Amino acid sequence: MEPCFPIDTKGHPIILIGLMGCGKTTIGRELSRMTGMPLIDMDAIIEEQIGKSISQIFRDEGEAHFRALETALLRYIEGTVGTEKGNVIISTGGGVVLRQINREILRRIGFTVWFNVDVPTLLERTSRSNSRPLLQSPDRVAIMERLHRERSPLYAETAHLKLDSSDISVRDTVPIVHDAALRFFS
Ligand code: S3P
Repeated sequence: MEPCFPIDTKGHPIILIGLMGCGKTTIGRELSRMTGMPLIDMDAIIEEQIGKSISQIFRDEGEAHFRALETALLRYIEGTVGTEKGNVIISTGGGVVLRQINREILRRIGFTVWFNVDVPTLLERTSRSNSRPLLQSPDRVAIMERLHRERSPLYAETAHLKLDSSDISVRDTVPIVHDAALRFFS
């Protein structure tokens, strides 16, 4: 699809947040094609910069180090806001909201959308992947339930828009986000 529905964000990003498996990357990719705005996948950039997979970073340096890398990347992105480089879509890692400083940055630099998806759907969507260190446990159900319970208030505090998207396909979600972003930036 040729990008045919650009959004004038005045150099501010559209930011996608939510738990692992909520659809951030897939929706981000489609929205990127629709708007012509480049997609920044935070996990992928951190992996590229460090030269290790997220699992290796968790194993070798620990989760706290990974969280510090997320903040460093957000601060870099914040520095691009207001310029052409800030006109991007950002797909975040599910735990980006754990640090208060990250929540503040995400809230102030752009339009932040939370995809709120129920636990069974998240489990189903993450079941075929082993790239997520937090889910490498026989007790995936309990882990996902806890993450959903603990993080929902943090996503709510950060997002400008909450989309209950368990039953909405990517095809239908993308125009909803596009429309909301147009209104946010108008
Ligand atoms: C994490 C989510 C992952 C990745 C890391 C930690 C989390 O990203 O950042 O494994 O704490 O929820 P996705 O949400 O893109 O899977």
